[in-house]
Amino acid sequence: MEFQDRAALVTGAASGIGRATALAFAAAGARVAICDLNVAGAEAAAAEAGGGAVAVGMDVTDAVSVRAGVERAASELGGLDVVVNAAGWDRIMPFAKTDEAHWDRVIGINYRGLLAVTHGALPHLIERGGGAIVNVASEAGRAGSSGEAVYSGTKGAVIAFSKALAREVARYGIRVNVVAPGLTDTPLLRGMIADGNEKLIDAIVAATPLRRLARPEEVAEAALFLASSRASFTTGETLSVGGGLVMV
Ligand SMILES: NC(=O)c1ccc[n+]([C@@H]2O[C@H](COP(=O)([O-])OP(=O)(O)OC[C@H]3O[C@@H](n4cnc5c(N)ncnc54)[C@H](O)[C@@H]3O)[C@@H](O)[C@H]2O)c1
Repeated sequence: MEFQDRAALVTGAASGIGRATALAFAAAGARVAICDLNVAGAEAAAAEAGGGAVAVGMDVTDAVSVRAGVERAASELGGLDVVVNAAGWDRIMPFAKTDEAHWDRVIGINYRGLLAVTHGALPHLIERGGGAIVNVASEAGRAGSSGEAVYSGTKGAVIAFSKALAREVARYGIRVNVVAPGLTDTPLLRGMIADGNEKLIDAIVAATPLRRLARPEEVAEAALFLASSRASFTTGETLSVGGGLVMV
C-alpha cells in the first residue's frame, strides 16, 4: 500500500474534507493523527479509520494546543511523513458587514492556524529526511468569492505561503502543494445553506461546468495524490477540485 509505514497528521479531520482525507490516508496504509477541536468527532473518525489512528484534540488557533498536539501525534505515530492542513471556517456575509472579531476568527483558523501547525510539524518531516505537506485552500483563493472576501484573502495567502515554503524546504526532500476545492458537500457548506445562502450556492453550481457539488472523497483523492510518490516531482502546485468553475 502506498502509505504503508507512513505517518500522516490531518487537521480538521473530525468532519468533511479533513475527515475524508484522514480516512483515505488510513485506507492507503498510513497511521493517521486525526486532529480537531471537536474531540468526540475526532475519536469517531479515528475509530472508523482503524489501523492505529489516534484522535488528537487540537485548537489550531492556540499555540500551546498546537505544540502539544503535534508533539503527541509525532510521538504516538513514531514521527511524521505527511501533514494535511484542512481545518477551516467561514461564514458568508458582505465585507461591509464584517467586523474585526470576524477577521480575527477567519484569519486565525484558516491562515495563522495553518502556519502554526506547519511550523510545529516541519522539524519532524526534516528529521525524517523528507515528506509532503498538503494545504487545503479554496477556489475562493484563486478567483475571489463574493460574500467571502476575508476568507478568500486567507486562502490566497495559503496558496502564496505554500509556494514560498515549497522553495525553502525542497532541499530537505519536502514537497508542499495545495488542493483548491470548489463547493463541497460538507457540514460547513450545509451550515451556509441553512444560513439562507441556498440561492447563492445554487447559482454557483449552475455556473459550474460539471453542475454539482464536490464530494469530500474527491478532494481527499487529490490530497492523497499530491502527498504520494506519484507526485514526486510536483511542488508549489495548486490542484483544483472544482468541477471546472475556476480554470487558471
Ligand atoms: N466545503 C466547501 O465547500 C469548501 C470549499 C473550499 C474549501 N474548503 C475548505 O476545506 C476545509 C475543510 O472544510 P469542510 O467544508 O470540510 O468543513 P467542516 O466544517 O466540515 O470541517 C472543518 C473541521 O475543522 C475543524 N476546525 C474548525 N476550527 C478549528 C480549530 N480552531 N482548530 C482545529 N480544528 C478546527 C472543525 O471542528 C471541523 O471538524 C476548510 O479549510 C475549508 O475552508 C471547503
